[in-house]
Amino acid sequence: MKTSRTLGSAAILAISACMAAGMFISIRAQAAHAEEIVPLSALDLQKMQQGWGEPKIDQSVTGKPLAIGGKTFAHGVGTHARSVLYVQLNGGTSRFTAKVGVDDSQRGKAASLDFRVVGDGKTLFKSGTMKPGQAAKSVDVDLRGVKTAILLVGQAGGGIDFDHANWADAQFAVTGEKPQAVDPPREEAVILTPKPSPQPRINGPTVYGCRPGNPFLYRIPATGQRPMTFAADNLPAGLRLDAKTGIITGVNPPRGEYAVTLRAENALGKAEKKFKIVSGDKLALTPPMGWNHWYAHYGRVTDRTMREAADGMAANGMADAGYQYVSIDDCWMNAPEDSKLDASRRGPLRDEKGNILCNKNFPNMKALTDYIHAYGLKAGIYTSPGPFTCAGYCGAYRHEAQDAKQFADWGFDMLKYDWCSYGGIAKGDKSLEALKKPYILMGDLLEKQKRDIHLNLCQYGMGKVWEWGAEVGGQSWRTAGDLGFELERIIDIAMTNAKHREWSKPGSWNDPDYLQIGYIGNARGGGEPRPCPLTPNEQYSFMSLWCLMASPLFYSGDVPKLTDFDLNILCNAEVIEIDQDPLGQCARTVVLDDEAVLFVKEMEDGSKAVGLCNRGEMEIEIAAKWSDLGLTGKQRVRDLWRQKDLGEFSDSFTANVGRHGTFLIRLWPVK
Ligand code: GLA
Repeated sequence: MKTSRTLGSAAILAISACMAAGMFISIRAQAAHAEEIVPLSALDLQKMQQGWGEPKIDQSVTGKPLAIGGKTFAHGVGTHARSVLYVQLNGGTSRFTAKVGVDDSQRGKAASLDFRVVGDGKTLFKSGTMKPGQAAKSVDVDLRGVKTAILLVGQAGGGIDFDHANWADAQFAVTGEKPQAVDPPREEAVILTPKPSPQPRINGPTVYGCRPGNPFLYRIPATGQRPMTFAADNLPAGLRLDAKTGIITGVNPPRGEYAVTLRAENALGKAEKKFKIVSGDKLALTPPMGWNHWYAHYGRVTDRTMREAADGMAANGMADAGYQYVSIDDCWMNAPEDSKLDASRRGPLRDEKGNILCNKNFPNMKALTDYIHAYGLKAGIYTSPGPFTCAGYCGAYRHEAQDAKQFADWGFDMLKYDWCSYGGIAKGDKSLEALKKPYILMGDLLEKQKRDIHLNLCQYGMGKVWEWGAEVGGQSWRTAGDLGFELERIIDIAMTNAKHREWSKPGSWNDPDYLQIGYIGNARGGGEPRPCPLTPNEQYSFMSLWCLMASPLFYSGDVPKLTDFDLNILCNAEVIEIDQDPLGQCARTVVLDDEAVLFVKEMEDGSKAVGLCNRGEMEIEIAAKWSDLGLTGKQRVRDLWRQKDLGEFSDSFTANVGRHGTFLIRLWPVK
């Protein structure tokens, strides 16, 4: 190895010296002698990220022979757009060669993609758009001196459907250190959000929905030095405010609108905020915010986990930023004795009267919700309409009324209602009527309880649930399956939700799944929590996009382990304000190219929130033009992550946006 490295650099020197002397051909032949050929397929392809399937060696992504434009190739790698592979070369590779194109299995289909090779940030090869049936293009790039190369397959305009891509005969000519597939770079975790000011600031929504006569509970979310004294003007009769804690309790007022002003004061100053209580039929006039145990604790959740999360949220600033619900997901009930789940979670499913039983990890549900409510926070619970939940515990089937009443009696304020094991009950019927049935039943039952209980449907978007989720009594609905951790999935779901943005409005929210940052388990493995694999930029994008979509904001990770960096992502008051805007609009998208996308959200005060999102691997300049944003005239622009005014701009705003980052701004017209 050592010898070949020495030879390699000597050969390169010789090449440059002799090129000048017109001796290129003979020296090159000599250098080739020292080269070792390393096929792309010899690299660790687990590091290759792609939009669908797994990379295949010497086969197309679906396991067929590699074929491009009628020609078959014995060797290479089959992948699928968008595909990314980082290769560390450290100057040891002289060339990369390949034949690239769309796999012939996609002939006649609407595939379109492009290949790129990047060396230390410079594009060295660009195929341009390629279609099925087109002859392979030759890649032959000089990589001498290059430290890191990136092999990319983009979607060339359209979506990624049918984009089966082949790097045929792909190989590195190596003269020194061998190429190695590596993880994408991870930038430094820089905290962009300034610490909240010690002066009071009241956060949370400006409008709040409730149903007449039910219990009222609202903790005024406020940052600033404690002690702080709270007050409220024009609070309707039946409500009282604890001036020390800022918790409002009592009975929801009669039907009507109540314009309240919330006030907070400490030794350093005062703050106030308009807060309209709308007592009527609708709950969740702004997207619900909270925490859910699932992605950190899975089947390990206990009463203690829940209390620690509530303690954490009250202490770490989350409750002050507006996070309200503390929600138990699956696994609080018993599973049948013959299941393989741990002994503390097996036992009788119901008592002799048919009442659902908690497992040993939840000794007293009422005491748990009391504990959560004492913080002014709300409690959430989970079940499924089938006989069993997704994790194999007792579901609500044939006991719906009894369970709904039980949840209300225990003091829960939210129900996540899944779909698992109901497929069998519906006997595979996927008609709208069949899809709606369990939710109509539970929606009606919850509405009859003497509590405001938010219904979150979790049936992964079947039958375009966004079109009818509100009609069956839901306030929010998952629009897709479990999210996972890839930025592409995160951006993808934001772009998909933007397509049905008309269904996002007060009392009616598209739920793209939870915010998974900090310590989280592997959703697919159920493992112990570990640090979030998303890069810092990706985490900023995650939160930015969730707020631009007006998504429910549920953190689902280990609360006691949240770091200052994580809390900076979760608790930026100006970013959350975008999510909680009372218009309830989901951003629309403006796709500028394969890399740059703008997310544009109208705000109630006439301003706009805009995310300049970079899906690409390199830092790029993104311009938000007024013509794309639907703006004219001068605008004041504020950087929301840094909470800093950037000045006045006349017809566009441009920013450099790092790999997978989102630059989040708000623009107000200058009068
Ligand atoms: C489904 C849901 C998850 C979680 C699990 C619980 O997968 O999508 O959010 O509730 O069930 O088993």
